[in-house]
Amino acid sequence: MVEKTDSENLARKRIEELRSQLNKHNILYYQQDSPQTSDAEYDAMMRELMALETQHPSFASRDSPAQRIGAPPSKGFATITHKQQMLSLANAFNQEEFVAWNERVAKLLTNKLEFVCELKYDGLAVSMTYENGNLVKGATRGDGKKGEDVTNNLKTVNHLPLNLSGGYPSILEVRGEVVFPISDFNEFNVNRSSDGLTPYANPRNAAAGALRQIDPSETAKRPLDIFIYGIGHVNDQIPPQTQYELLDYLSALGFNINEHNDLVDSPSKVIDYYLNFLEMREDLDYICDGVVVKVNRLDYQRHLGQIGREPRWAIAFKFPSEQKETTLINIKFNVGRTGSINPYAVLDPVQIGGATIKQATLHNEDYIRTKDLRIGDTVIIERAGEVIPQVIRAISSKRSGREKKLQMPTECPICNHLIFSSKDEAMAYCINSACPAQTNKMIEHFVSKGAMDIHGLGPKQINVLISKGLISDAADLYDLKNHQDKTITIDRIGETSLDNLLTAIDTSRRQPMEKVLTALGIKHVGPEVAELLSQRFLNIDEIIRSSDSDIQNIPGIGPKISSSIVTYFADPSNLELINKLRLAGLNLENVNTDILEKQVLSDKVFVVTGRMENFSRTDIQNRIKALGGKVTGKVTKKTDFVIMGSDPGSKLNQANLLEIDILTETEFIDLIQSLLSNNDL
Ligand code: IVH
Repeated sequence: MVEKTDSENLARKRIEELRSQLNKHNILYYQQDSPQTSDAEYDAMMRELMALETQHPSFASRDSPAQRIGAPPSKGFATITHKQQMLSLANAFNQEEFVAWNERVAKLLTNKLEFVCELKYDGLAVSMTYENGNLVKGATRGDGKKGEDVTNNLKTVNHLPLNLSGGYPSILEVRGEVVFPISDFNEFNVNRSSDGLTPYANPRNAAAGALRQIDPSETAKRPLDIFIYGIGHVNDQIPPQTQYELLDYLSALGFNINEHNDLVDSPSKVIDYYLNFLEMREDLDYICDGVVVKVNRLDYQRHLGQIGREPRWAIAFKFPSEQKETTLINIKFNVGRTGSINPYAVLDPVQIGGATIKQATLHNEDYIRTKDLRIGDTVIIERAGEVIPQVIRAISSKRSGREKKLQMPTECPICNHLIFSSKDEAMAYCINSACPAQTNKMIEHFVSKGAMDIHGLGPKQINVLISKGLISDAADLYDLKNHQDKTITIDRIGETSLDNLLTAIDTSRRQPMEKVLTALGIKHVGPEVAELLSQRFLNIDEIIRSSDSDIQNIPGIGPKISSSIVTYFADPSNLELINKLRLAGLNLENVNTDILEKQVLSDKVFVVTGRMENFSRTDIQNRIKALGGKVTGKVTKKTDFVIMGSDPGSKLNQANLLEIDILTETEFIDLIQSLLSNNDL
């Protein structure tokens, strides 16, 4: 027998170490939706393992994570066996690697190639089976061969059709990615924190967590969306001959196809597309961590085939991860609206993706303990999914021994009241309801965009107003104009901005009741629940008088929410605040202020697509809704108008096909202006 060399022994040890770490991360990532490593670190480990297994084939094993995708389905859901394996993608981490992929493909196919460029959505891969046009089965990817049966949860995902339109094969399996919109993510996490739950590290984990709810009505409460990018098992011939035609075909059947897909005819145009979205990705409302490049012709795809779990005909051209190393200078605490004690990292400032990062959330005590973060540590930080900076891990090899472990405070850092923490919750709370930090946060929330939307009042100004004794709760804002003489001298608020601020406060009185309900900051009552309440009750007094079961009878509201609402309105100090708001003239009746706008677009159905010049798509969509129109995500026969910005994608083709009126942003503004003056469409 040949003696194993030292280097072989080392390689075997490293292979075992990598396999065990990757297996652990797979479970954390795929089953528990709670990764403790960044994508970049994971990718690096996986690449190292693959390279070592190739160099040392004698150590190869079918159980190796390098041979498997993801993790086997978790318990709690039935298992679905995929009729066709759900593949993974090879990565290109830079232009050279992309060019190398293209050269490998070009060698196997001598003809000139076209490519479809798609965004690589960072969510959860799923498969949906339609029988005779009806959605009958939905599954997660799992380990690629078997996934979890999440049919009922998938049925609640926005833009996933339950029935197909047009000509479809009797069995059609489509595949796509479920995403959690970034615009909803931050608020969702803030609510989780104040409910004492661990916030999700990024929108992808939030999407995975949402889809894995045992109770589908819980999934339904989360604003999931989906992009379809391909097919699996189909029992009949279907017309498309290319990936690009396939996307159009799927769009015509009613699937949500991303508007940024593009067909290009050279590798250099792929690179242009990549560089464009490297910039543009910040403007998207979902996380996108690269571009997926696919050979367009389906017969070429078949010819190229796959190696292991990766097709040769496609590659994930990844965007660079935004990570940096820095020092964790200190761990401080702030106090949330509900009194939650939130630890955060004070960092030696570093630049990531154009922003200077000085602080990062540390969520709660558990998070810090699990990662064993110590003050003085060198840490890796990342802007997780471009949203909130996260501390990924400490580099323990760089420790000097002088680092300090976390000491949780026992008193509120703001009011010195004792802190309450229980074994069942990760969060600790200051339970002094008069704690100035809570007042401040409460007012910050009250004036925020999703609530009363009062511009010009940031945390600093609120602090000044509180410390000068000019306000002690949100209702006092409406009395500020009577103290104008005193306010003028206030630092941080200049004379003109004071005028603007007072006007903004005044205007906010017209906000509808649902905004006031959101603004109150009742635990678990965000914009969606507030909307449900204002649909059900005529005015706030009806809500105050209602019982727990009255509230629970509203579809979409469960016992946790109803009990929080009842508790809130049972507290005399909250009723006092509501009376002050009533006196200040706020809308506590359910008069829909939108009705004050002429409903000139009533019953008209709009689709808004592409990049706009002067407004965001959301601005335009809100304007349409305020004027009585409907906004939908896909172009169908029922669509009346498509408002199109630049790069409109496949929706434009669809609109042309169905002969639907297409408006530019300016034409739309002109149209509503003329309608508002003569009221006819
Ligand atoms: S195609 C055979 N297209 O990336 C090709 N995948 O690393 C497999 N993904 O599991 C998928 N956006 O969940 C494809 N436009 C896109 C994608 C995409 C995101 C995910 C997908 C897959 C993973 C592969």
